[in-house]
Amino acid sequence: MVKHFAVIGCPIAHSLSPVMHNAGYKALDLAADYQKFQVSPEDLGEAVLGLKALGFSGWNVTVPHKEAILPFLDELTEEARRAGAVNTVKVHKGRLIGHNTDGSGFVRSLQEHMELGEGKKIVLLGAGGAAKGIAMALAPFGVQLCIMNRTPERGAELLEKIREWGGQARQEVWGRGEWLTQADCVIQTTSLGLKKEDYPFSLEGIHPGTLVVDIIFNPWETPFLQSAKVLGCKIVNGMDMLLYQGVNAWEFWLEDKAPVDAMRKALYQALA
Ligand code: ATR
Repeated sequence: MVKHFAVIGCPIAHSLSPVMHNAGYKALDLAADYQKFQVSPEDLGEAVLGLKALGFSGWNVTVPHKEAILPFLDELTEEARRAGAVNTVKVHKGRLIGHNTDGSGFVRSLQEHMELGEGKKIVLLGAGGAAKGIAMALAPFGVQLCIMNRTPERGAELLEKIREWGGQARQEVWGRGEWLTQADCVIQTTSLGLKKEDYPFSLEGIHPGTLVVDIIFNPWETPFLQSAKVLGCKIVNGMDMLLYQGVNAWEFWLEDKAPVDAMRKALYQALA
């Protein structure tokens, strides 16, 4: 029987998830398909019931539904509960299980560029939903996290959460302090790169060779990444985060290894 998957969001036209997942099914000759559906906030509950009634095996959830979908689900995984947000739903024995692969997907992509372990210093710029998911997934590795956020109160809330999760963290003033220059890795999680404005602070003094990551991939090189590149940093955009959140969702749904290379190739081709 053909398995059906989808992504729901609003807007959804730009989503690359169908390209990535369908390429994976093709590579493994699986009888499955993956569609995208635009669902407005007021229709979310009906859409969830509809997907279940139509026999979908699972679906991804994107903006603006990641938190709003919680009341419509039967169970949450530990990752979803901690994040307070769901990006993946699995239908299991008639029950809707909410999961979150954003943080774990990010960590998997980061591990292609650095080893995570005690003593590694990582600066997290931003303290919103994306930063929270990433911090949650990084905490168990024993890395030292430093939060920098425009609104320090929000940074402090995230700091407390990280400590609850057993992680090590501190907070520094937004865009200042020694940490930026001592970091092994700097991760930009705010929406700033989307607006083509310059970053409000300089990375001057950062060590050449520092790994600098932006979770945005469109534009491919944000002004933030461009400025890091000029300073000799190794730059990585958010494309592989998208890839691995999809890979981890696949593996959650199908309980088998996903064809990472085929999925990556399809994504890169779609953006070429
Ligand atoms: P997301 O789920 O994408 O992380 P969010 O929860 O709204 O979205 O968080 C947005 C993040 O970008 C926050 O860290 C926010 O900082 P504040 O907590 O100070 O609002 C940050 N951000 C957005 N616009 C910003 C700007 N112009 N300057 C600095 N930080 C900004």
